[in-house]
Amino acid sequence: MNLEVILSPAELPALAQRDLRTTACVVFDVLRATSTFVSALYHGAAEIIPVSEISESLEIKKRRPKVLLGGERHGVRISAGGIDFDFGNSPREYTPEKVRGKTIVSTTTNGTRALRACLGAKAVLAASLLNLTATLEFLRLNHFENILLVCAGTGENPASEDIIAAGALVDALLPGKDTFSKRTESAVAARNAYFEAVRMGLEQKIRLAENAQRLLSLPELRDDVAFCLQHDIFPLVARMENGAIRRQKEL
Ligand code: MLT
Repeated sequence: MNLEVILSPAELPALAQRDLRTTACVVFDVLRATSTFVSALYHGAAEIIPVSEISESLEIKKRRPKVLLGGERHGVRISAGGIDFDFGNSPREYTPEKVRGKTIVSTTTNGTRALRACLGAKAVLAASLLNLTATLEFLRLNHFENILLVCAGTGENPASEDIIAAGALVDALLPGKDTFSKRTESAVAARNAYFEAVRMGLEQKIRLAENAQRLLSLPELRDDVAFCLQHDIFPLVARMENGAIRRQKEL
């Protein structure tokens, strides 16, 4: 069993050349896409369809007028094609009253693209600090030959919050004993980033990250950072199948 981490969005295009049929991909976009998707599913959304481009969102809306549109560019809610999207990308917007039973089409700067880059994998999971332990348990119960943790990043850059969260999962998956035949340098690097963050104080470390600083500077979004830093408040597995992310029923 191999454990590998994609640390930067620059590595995503190469995924298209890889055979992921024996691989479980676990996508992290802690601030905020995967945290938002997990929140929406916990509050009863039927599914989230991640798309890479705004034009794809509008196209699906035209075909399926009942879907809701969510996502962000530059962190804020999208208005395009004469349509104001129903949601931005704050997990706090996706309340039970608004999302219960709904299909939500979402496009974000990095998170949805990272998820789409994993199409073809044996399993694709949306992970965050909000559902980290449930995600870990799913991986432990379902023996995958390869596990690839994908850090979505911010813009073209790596995002330390994604690497730290991925490192926490690496550490949990490698509890002392090296159960992986090939422990890649990327997994070791992610785990070291996690150890360093814990030493410094996880929350303080993540608050200093580029995306956190941007969100903290926007009054209407600053509370998203604290929200996304909560641990295991939404014990669910968010799995993408046939292009839609749904709450996995049994582990
Ligand atoms: C992303 O997908 O790049 C992030 O989630 C952006 C954001 O939510 O601000």
